[in-house]
Amino acid sequence: MKVTVVGAGAVGASCAEYIAIKNFASEVVILDIKEGFAEGKAMDLMQTASLNDFDTKIVGTTNDYSKTDNSDICVITSGIPRKPGMTREELIGINAGIVKDVSSKLLESSPETIIIVVSNPMDTMTYLVHKTTGVPKNRIIGMGGALDSARFKYRLAEALNAPISDVDGMVIGGHSDKGMVPLISKATRNSIKVTNFLSNQRLDQVREDTKVGGATLTKLLGTSAWYAPGAAVSSLVHSIACNHNKIFPCSALLEGEYGLSDLCIGVPVVLGKNGIEEIIELDLDTEDLAHLTESAEGVKKTNSLLTL
Ligand code: LAC
Repeated sequence: MKVTVVGAGAVGASCAEYIAIKNFASEVVILDIKEGFAEGKAMDLMQTASLNDFDTKIVGTTNDYSKTDNSDICVITSGIPRKPGMTREELIGINAGIVKDVSSKLLESSPETIIIVVSNPMDTMTYLVHKTTGVPKNRIIGMGGALDSARFKYRLAEALNAPISDVDGMVIGGHSDKGMVPLISKATRNSIKVTNFLSNQRLDQVREDTKVGGATLTKLLGTSAWYAPGAAVSSLVHSIACNHNKIFPCSALLEGEYGLSDLCIGVPVVLGKNGIEEIIELDLDTEDLAHLTESAEGVKKTNSLLTL
């Protein structure tokens, strides 16, 4: 199993690190345009191998796509991250050109690869890859919901004063401050609905804190977060690489599911060796479905800014 991560910035490097630590891939290639940067990150990470007990070989390259030949999975993290006060949508101008260029070069080296898009605005960048590459829809996956759900679980655990492992919950919809749809009504603590434990007011707070999860970190860090984004990507890669068929909310091309089509947006999918094995259609209550529909309108508005 060979995985390429494009972009050796904080998200790309932490993604490579988590993949290596989980020890299921034979090789991880990190590619960046900045001279020597990916090589440096790869060398530093390789020097953790004996300490962290992994056998994955990590290779860095400055823009040499031949090093990525025959990758099974390619992760695109390249582009600029947001600064405090910026929305993810504001990054479209610069990142669209980068993502288009990177995806076409990756496919020249690895025509059969599965692509995971992380660059923002992520749902629109995922749609762009669909529109410009012609790769079958099961092989193009946007990473947002897995991260947003991890942030949702963190906020739920905090509100419940419970360990995170006791909590389950999912965020669907667009990966944006306004577009996220935390499914409060389906969230549970050890299979008991969280609505049994928390007031509506507290749950509204959890919802709002979850939706601005990325923005809160951007304000604190001065740039966007990397540990949870990297870990979320590594979980998707792991499920695909080992054909675990786990369910994650991911940005997928919809063709009628949830009454939506011609866009990529976060919905639960089964991830296995073929990428998206199945899109799960949840039975949403009227309020959640209305939020998802509204979120889709926002994503489509951002998509309309693309020059395809
Ligand atoms: C975040 C970026 C990865 O939410 O979109 O932190």
